[in-house]
Amino acid sequence: MDKVYFGTNLKMYKNIQDTVSYLNELTELTKDLDRSKIELFVIPSYTSLPDAVKIENRSLVRLGAQNMGWEEQGQFTGEISPLMLNELGLDMVMIGHSERRHVFRETDQEENKKVLCAIQHHLDALLCIGETEEEKEYGLSDEVLRTQLIAGFHGITSAMAEQLLEGEPKIRVAYEPVWAIGVNGKPASVEYAEEKHRVIKACLVDLFGELGNRIPVLYGGSVNPQNAEPLIAQDSIDGLFVGRSAWNAGPFNTLIRSCLKRLSTEG
Ligand code: 13P
Repeated sequence: MDKVYFGTNLKMYKNIQDTVSYLNELTELTKDLDRSKIELFVIPSYTSLPDAVKIENRSLVRLGAQNMGWEEQGQFTGEISPLMLNELGLDMVMIGHSERRHVFRETDQEENKKVLCAIQHHLDALLCIGETEEEKEYGLSDEVLRTQLIAGFHGITSAMAEQLLEGEPKIRVAYEPVWAIGVNGKPASVEYAEEKHRVIKACLVDLFGELGNRIPVLYGGSVNPQNAEPLIAQDSIDGLFVGRSAWNAGPFNTLIRSCLKRLSTEG
């Protein structure tokens, strides 16, 4: 991978003012980091997005939406359409976060419709996948990950993949084991995370041939200042998707820098 990816999902936290202050602080603290080597992205609440896109150092941080409806318009109360995200100047959307799948009962088929719709509207799709604790205990993790990938990317032809993956990759994957996420989550061991990233990468190659290797795969789920460095040092982990440990700009900046230092010392 040419770049290392660091992103955070702000979930249903931070009001407009807090989001803007956070983004200002984060971009100021990280402004010296070469954006041709790292991508920094933040996924705030919908209501914060119109102000977030106007921050001064806008070019230093990519912004995305937490979810999206799969139609341009219609009788879909409560949904946000891709055109509405385009109107804000956004070019990234997260799809299938574990909380969408498990709290709001979204299905693989729905995530697939959103992925295809995002592609059609020039929004980079960050597809989140991950097994539950129960699926892990039954030894089903690899099957679940493969199913979520095959279903999520269904309908992307080789010609489309070629376009999407030339230059900056326009589809990405975040592996977030459900049991590792949030206040009650226990972080995956570094070995476990690397093993599953290998499964994911092999599946992406099954789907898209060698082009599949160009899709960045990020790890998320209780990333913290202790495990960030060993995680990022793994061969198959291309970036970190962080929740709680990134919600203050200072510690997130420290975490990013410690990862970059580790990568540079490992050559
Ligand atoms: P935590 O890092 O708080 O476990 O959250 C991860 C996450 O859900 C990012 O999308």
